[in-house]
Amino acid sequence: MKDYIATVVKNEKIAENVYAVTFDLGEPAKVRCGQFGNISVGGTHLLRRPIAICKVEDSEVTFCYQIKGEGTQKLKTMGAGTKLNVLMPLGNGFYVEETEKKVALVGGGVGVFPLISVLREYGETKEISAYIGYRNQGAVCGVEEFKKAHKFVGVTDDGSFGEKMNAVQAFAADLAKGNRPDVVLACGPTPMLRALIALVEKENLPCYVSLEERMGCGIGACLVCVCDMTDGKKARVCKDGPVFNAKEVRL
Ligand SMILES: Cc1cc2nc3c(=O)[nH]c(=O)nc-3n(C[C@H](O)[C@H](O)[C@H](O)COP(=O)(O)OP(=O)(O)OC[C@H]3O[C@@H](n4cnc5c(N)ncnc54)[C@H](O)[C@@H]3O)c2cc1C
Ligand code: FES
Repeated sequence: MKDYIATVVKNEKIAENVYAVTFDLGEPAKVRCGQFGNISVGGTHLLRRPIAICKVEDSEVTFCYQIKGEGTQKLKTMGAGTKLNVLMPLGNGFYVEETEKKVALVGGGVGVFPLISVLREYGETKEISAYIGYRNQGAVCGVEEFKKAHKFVGVTDDGSFGEKMNAVQAFAADLAKGNRPDVVLACGPTPMLRALIALVEKENLPCYVSLEERMGCGIGACLVCVCDMTDGKKARVCKDGPVFNAKEVRL
């Protein structure tokens, strides 16, 4: 982990309210899929925002972000040549076991972006099926990447792209047809993850979920990001996660 002084290479709109920013870190970075960066977008160090690392190519790293509030609004205005502090890579990331050949990705909302990094890391060695839910056609992004998967099922809340359903329903429909993965990796809004956890418990499928708690330091020091575990203990999403075994985390 390093606090890079990163230079914006490009910062472009890729869907309704969604942008992709590419930074040059000045040196190659070693990153595991599902890890994230804490990006400083203000003059003060207080305003850091955690964003999943979507793509890494040599010294260039790309983050995709949805405009939510002050931080992401500010990030949107940063043009090529702007220098920002980016603390990365943070968190544990996703890991697929040697024995797990068939992988299902289930994602929605901003949870789509860390799943693109899984596809980039494991796309050539695993049989990946991606079930991705968007709000509507305007929010659709990453399709070029997901189409590289063995199977891509894109759906929307209003049916304007793919079928009208959510990502968990799309995954459940495929499971019912007998398409059973060895492991499920997921990221998305809490209600989506709850529905998925109920399904994988019923189906007795291994599942790992990446959480998107609000964060402060991003390095395990401030306890802003703690979540509850099923054994009654607490965990720090930034340091112990953001990826957790679905059986161990309480949402
Ligand atoms: C590990 C991790 C990875 C993430 N990856 C991505 C990503 O790849 N792309 C992306 O667009 N976003 C991602 N997020 C969420 C992102 O960090 C927040 O959307 C961002 O910090 C909002 O900052 P803001 O200043 O624009 O909004 P704020 O002004 O801070 O907040 C605006 C609104 O968004 C809500 N909000 C803020 N942070 C979160 C959060 N973490 N979860 C849910 N609601 C939140 C606030 O409650 C508020 O209602 C990730 C979060 C985590 C923890
Ligand atoms: S964000 Fe500070 S401990 Fe996790």
